[in-house]
Formats: sequence, structure tokens, C-alpha cells
Amino acid sequence: MSHLIAPSILAADFANLQRDVEMVNQSEADWFHIDVMDGVFVPNISFGMPVIAAIKKHAAKTMDVHLMIVDPDRFIKDFKKAGADILTVHYEACNHLHRTVQAIKQEGMQAGVSLNPHTPVNVLEDIIKDLDLVLIMSVNPGFGGQSFIENTYKKISELKKLIEKSGSNAVIEIDGGVNGKNAEQLVATGADVLVAGSFVFKSEDPSKTIHELKHLKY
Ligand code: DX5
Ligand code: ZN
Repeated sequence: MSHLIAPSILAADFANLQRDVEMVNQSEADWFHIDVMDGVFVPNISFGMPVIAAIKKHAAKTMDVHLMIVDPDRFIKDFKKAGADILTVHYEACNHLHRTVQAIKQEGMQAGVSLNPHTPVNVLEDIIKDLDLVLIMSVNPGFGGQSFIENTYKKISELKKLIEKSGSNAVIEIDGGVNGKNAEQLVATGADVLVAGSFVFKSEDPSKTIHELKHLKY
């Protein structure tokens, strides 16, 4: 399988959301990456259910929802209703991660778990088989446009080993500071999905940038 591209809507023009959603629909992107921030788990607030539901009305691709919120169990049903296909929670935000993952699956969504830059991959050892996706944060969550943390490569290698050893089907998604300089090495190291916000939406031709990320034309 070739790697997937998930443009992060956080970097879109919110006053022209439908235009940007259509751009992603028409492009070679695979998923919509949708960042939800609560101002508690991360020092920023983004958007919630009404905006996700509005995106869903126009989105023709998988809705990959990344929750940067405390106690996500409270809202699992609501995110399903708003249109999430994949729901990713943070390891650091869940006291009963196993229960949370099962609740996501019970709602018919794929379940992802995200790790902050300081959280080692091996904390997932006893749950990896239950996961559809692991999202490795390659910046500290909360903001778009930050620079990529190099230690990410090591974490991808470790996670890949853990996935292979356990027989898990989880895909590896990388989020934060992804650009033309690191995309190729990320995929070579084992990334299955690349999230890209600023690099796509702040570029002159976002659709062309998505094409280049998809075909690693660097
Ligand atoms: C950061 C978010 C990312 C963000 C990535 O907390 O999880 O998805 O939108 O943006 P860039 O690609 O600009 O680092
Ligand atoms: Zn994200």
C-alpha cells in the first residue's frame, strides 16, 4: 500500500471552508484530518461538532478526527453523529484507554491513539492489537506551523517493530511539521499516513502540494 495523505483542516481558511473542502475532494488526498482542541488538554481551542458536521456535508473522503481533549469518553457518540470515521484520542488524556477504544469501536468508528512527543511507544504494548491507528505527534499538540521533532523517526521504527511483533493491523500516522524535507524519510521509516497542515494550505498550489506529498516528488 502506498502511503496516505491527510491534509489538516486546521490550516484551511475557515471563512472559505467549503472551497477548501472541495479542493481536498478534487485532490489526491486520502483523508480529511480534523483537529479538535479544548483549551485544557492543549493550550488552544479549535472547533467542535457543528463545524465537523458542516465539513462532513461536503467531504467525499474519510473523516479522520484527532481529539486533543480531556476525557474524550463524554463525546464519542457526538463525534460519530458529526461524521467521524476514525476517532483518535490521546494516550495522555485517558484514564481507561481500553474502555475508550472499545467504546469508539462500538460506535462503528475506527479507533486511534495518539502519543505526545515525550510519551514512549511501548506504553501501547498491551493495547496495540485493538488499535486501527497510532498517531505519533511530531510536534507538541496545540498549534499548526511548528517545526518537526527529529526523534520521531526513532519512534516510528519502534512502533513498527511493536506492530509487527504483535500482529496488529494498526497504521502509523505522523502529525506535525510534515513537509517536503521529511516526507520521504518518514515513509521510508514506516509512516503509513502523513498529516500536513501549513505545508499544504499555505502553499501556492495546495492541490499540487498534495500531489507532490503523495508521490514524494522531492
Ligand atoms: C497540531 C495538530 C496538527 C496540525 C498540523 O496539534 O494536531 O494536525 O494541524 O499542522 P502542521 O502540518 O502545520 O504542523
Ligand atoms: Zn492533528
